Amino acid sequence: MMTPEQIREKVKTIIQLPALPSLAFEVVEMVDDPKTSAAQLGKLIAADQALAGKVLKIANSPFYGFPKKISTIDFAIIVLGFDALKEIVISIALVSSLQKKADGYFNTKTFWDHSISTGVIARRLARDIGYRVTGEVFVAGLIHDMGISILNKYFNPEFRRIVDITREMGLSFAEAEESVLGVTHAEIGGWLGERWNLPDQLVETIRFHHTPEKAEANKKLVSIVHCADVFAKQLMTEKVEYDSDLTFNEEALNTLQLNDQNLIQEYLFQYSDVVNSDLRESLMVSNLVGL
Ligand SMILES: [Fe+2]
Ligand SMILES: [Fe+2]
Repeated sequence: MMTPEQIREKVKTIIQLPALPSLAFEVVEMVDDPKTSAAQLGKLIAADQALAGKVLKIANSPFYGFPKKISTIDFAIIVLGFDALKEIVISIALVSSLQKKADGYFNTKTFWDHSISTGVIARRLARDIGYRVTGEVFVAGLIHDMGISILNKYFNPEFRRIVDITREMGLSFAEAEESVLGVTHAEIGGWLGERWNLPDQLVETIRFHHTPEKAEANKKLVSIVHCADVFAKQLMTEKVEYDSDLTFNEEALNTLQLNDQNLIQEYLFQYSDVVNSDLRESLMVSNLVGL
């Protein structure tokens, strides 16, 4: 019998984690470097035609609510700001590297709907509780479940077995993952984040989005994404098949001073437009993900 630790090591070596696209890598490095100027970022984006086109499409979506047409990257940086631009570029790069066609086991649209909703809600929640909002809040929400798409894309037979087990045996998704692989999508996503040199707080958000009490680098951010994840789950009409048993973690609610049923209900009500309006749709399902 292998110990859980050995199983984990084996899985880690078997899974061929993809490399971060070089452009995204450059952007992540720029984000981490306080010396980066808006002009440098603009130059990098403008040099890639396809990327520049996508950025402008998203910059012009109702999500950013700018009344006039934004037709150049330089103008986008001026009106949307540096953080928004970083957020858009990182999202495009990460999402495109995790793409895979839908099948009976993985519903691409529901997956990205859930991810985008979590990102949008995380950003709203951050604002509502007075957390300094940076581009990373949206990105953290957007990629929190990237371990799921890694499993589906690079560990497909095991992913199918996990889905079958949850369907047939009524185990939770995490229990099924544990029984098949000995690890969950949260941990696998964390490995990828590390390999990609994402900022610590992003890696931590992915790794601990189900267990926010374990966070160390930025417990607030992890708690925000955790709660946004639960909000998104409760608000979506089309249910995602994984993590369906997810509920609010007490410690995360305490960290955000959100431990109040009335307040939670109030936020649920306020955030319902995220999933009901075409905001999310216009934001990215077509632009960013390219479905
Ligand atoms: Fe998850
Ligand atoms: Fe999730």
